[in-house]
Amino acid sequence: MADQKTVRNALLITGAAAAGYFLWKYTQRDNTAGSTTGAMLSPTTTTLKETKMTHILHVNASPRGEGSQSRLISNELVEAMVAAHPGTTVTDRDLGHQIIPFVTEPFIGAMYTPAEARTPEQKELLMLSDELIAELKAADVYVFGVPMYNFGVPAVFKAYIDYVARANETFNPATYEGLLKNKKAYVVSAHGGAGYGPGQERESMNQLVPTLRDILGFLGVTDVEFVSVEGTSAPEEKRVPVMAAAREKIAAIAKAS
Ligand SMILES: Cc1cc2nc3c(=O)[nH]c(=O)nc-3n(C[C@H](O)[C@H](O)[C@H](O)COP(=O)(O)O)c2cc1C
Repeated sequence: MADQKTVRNALLITGAAAAGYFLWKYTQRDNTAGSTTGAMLSPTTTTLKETKMTHILHVNASPRGEGSQSRLISNELVEAMVAAHPGTTVTDRDLGHQIIPFVTEPFIGAMYTPAEARTPEQKELLMLSDELIAELKAADVYVFGVPMYNFGVPAVFKAYIDYVARANETFNPATYEGLLKNKKAYVVSAHGGAGYGPGQERESMNQLVPTLRDILGFLGVTDVEFVSVEGTSAPEEKRVPVMAAAREKIAAIAKAS
C-alpha cells in the first residue's frame, strides 16, 4: 500500500501534467486566429480584434421610404460599420411601417403582474413589448434613425419607448438603475429646419435630443452619439454641405467603431 507521501507526490505529478496539457491546449487555441472557440478562450488583443463580432439593432422611425433623410443616413452608418467589421450582424426594426399600440390599462396590469402569474391573455398583451426588449438586449450597438416631429420624436417612437422601458426588464424600479449594460447608441435625427444644435437659436425647442439622451441613459445606455441632419426642407444646394458633414461624421464613427 502506498504511503501518504507517495500518494501526495503522485497527485502533484498528475496535477502538473494536467495543468501542462491544459496550458498547451490553451496556447493552441490562442493561435487559432478566427476560430470562435479560440476567441472565447484567448486573452490576446489580436485574437479578440480579429474575431470581434458586433450585433447592431437598427431602428427606423420615419414613415417615409426613399425620401427619408434619417433613414438614408442611418442606413449608411450601419453599412459603414458592417463594412468596417465584416461579420457584424444587423436586426432591422422599422417603426415607420409598423403600429406600436399605445399603453392601455390591461397592458399596465400585465406589465406589473409577476411573469409566473400572468394569464395567457396578459402574456399575449406583452408579446410585442417582450420582442422589442429582446432585440435591445441582444444587440451591442443601437442605431436609431429618428425624424423630428413637432420638436420631439414621432408618436410611434414614443410608443416604442413606452413598450421597452419596463420594470425589471430594462430598469431596476428599486434603484432606477438601467439594465441595458455595455451598449453604445447612435441617433441619426433629421430636422426640416435648422438651428437646433448646442448654442443655436432653437436649441431650447429641441426635445428630440434630450428625450433620447434621458431615456437611453435611464435604461443604462449612457454612451450615446448624435448625428443631426438639419435643414432637410431646404433647397438642394443648401443641403449639400449638410449631407457632406453628416457623411463625414458617420465615416469617422465607422472608423472608430
Ligand atoms: C408631422 C411633422 C412634424 C414636423 N415637425 C418638425 C419640427 O418640429 N421641426 C423641424 O425642423 N421639422 C419638422 N418636420 C420636418 C421633418 O423633421 C423633416 O421632414 C425630416 O426630414 C423628417 O425626417 P425623415 O426625412 O427621416 O422622414 C416635421 C415633419 C412632419 C411630417
